[in-house]
Amino acid sequence: MESLLHLMEDEKILRAERLDVLRRVGQSAKNPAYVVGGFVRDLLLRKPVSDFDIVSEGDAIAFARSLAKQYGGQVTAHANFGTAKWFLNENSFVDFITARSEIYTHNAALPTVKFASLSEDILRRDFTINTLAIRLDGNHFGEVRDDINGQADIKKGIVRVLHSNSFLDDPTRIYRAVRYEQRYGFKIDVETAELIPEAIRLIEKLSAQRIRHELDLILDEPNAHLMIARLADLNLLKSIHPALSNEFASISILNQKIINFADLQIAIDNLNDIGVSMPRRDFLWLLWLMPLSADSLKSLNTRLSFTANLMKLLLSGSELLKKANQLSGLSPSKCVQFLDTFHLESVAIVYLLNQDAQIKNKLYTYLHSWRHIKANITGVDLKARGVPAGPKYNEILWKIRAAWLDGIVNDKTQEANLLMELLEIKL
Ligand code: CTP
Repeated sequence: MESLLHLMEDEKILRAERLDVLRRVGQSAKNPAYVVGGFVRDLLLRKPVSDFDIVSEGDAIAFARSLAKQYGGQVTAHANFGTAKWFLNENSFVDFITARSEIYTHNAALPTVKFASLSEDILRRDFTINTLAIRLDGNHFGEVRDDINGQADIKKGIVRVLHSNSFLDDPTRIYRAVRYEQRYGFKIDVETAELIPEAIRLIEKLSAQRIRHELDLILDEPNAHLMIARLADLNLLKSIHPALSNEFASISILNQKIINFADLQIAIDNLNDIGVSMPRRDFLWLLWLMPLSADSLKSLNTRLSFTANLMKLLLSGSELLKKANQLSGLSPSKCVQFLDTFHLESVAIVYLLNQDAQIKNKLYTYLHSWRHIKANITGVDLKARGVPAGPKYNEILWKIRAAWLDGIVNDKTQEANLLMELLEIKL
């Protein structure tokens, strides 16, 4: 029996403390137990691995609980699915699955689950590259199970379904195929690719949550731009919603090229340094979809159910992208008055995408400094001077802020003089 222990013991691939966790799982197992799927695939590709999906040919929940009893930690479980999560500490967990088969009674619906052997569990999986298992129990530690020759496809770099109904059963697998293909520089097998057009009609049956989850996972990948381009080639974007037309996708990919995808993290870090922070995933959604009109975004939102916050930023960014050229020729205070009506994150993305040097400079100055420039005096000072409550407060404070921004006021004495002037006029 072939063993992959030499790869598991390579610390560049698997950290020693994580290997220890697998050893403990193996030593405590009373039934055959395997680490399966992505772990074995990435191990064979010599990519760093740390997440474990353990399949047990016995009750996985009881197994996880016995490990927690022996080694500590907490267990959460889903009795209906026979799955458990063993949290060793805050940052480290292991997933347990009772070996199962899945029966798809309707295309694109969630399957009915039945407990089974590892052989059947392997057959329910999406692609051959995800069907490998490494046995952990007893003397078998490290032995490979490769029932359907997944290792050969990993070596050849081929993404291949196990049977011709795979995409009909679960159309999210089409998106997964593209993700694996572009992540590893693999190729979707010709016969597998031929199954895609027939399954496209079922994409509309997927819930917003399931389809958005697939897109979220794609945007989380370093090669997200290649994946989006490939999805467009395969007509897998416009099948989600007509707003994601192929033409739009390529315009949008162009946007991403403008800021250079490889430097994306640097762009995110630079924005962070000037106080604009957002999760990378939201950043990518904005970069991708902000060029859409407000109407298209609202319609797309009915299909993808974006979070309220993301939707707010998308609409704000879409509007600013259309209007940013109005900044040209405006004084600093007028720029601030205009930009203050948009969300900061949206302004930041428009700054990255804009190619007009003068406008880009204004957006940068706004993000970096103008937005922080405020009057020194506050409402408290105005109250102390007897200004009656009302809209006058904002008006006076804004006039002083504008004077600072436009260089009319440059120190506190000048600010105090301006205040006197304004109070005499106003009162
Ligand atoms: N799986 C499947 N069909 C799906 C989703 C998952 O058959 N629609 C199976 C695959 O065999 C996969 C396993 O469930 O290996 C676990 O899924 P997931 O955690 O999403 O995949 P990983 O292999 O861990 O891949 P990734 O590196 O993308 O996380």
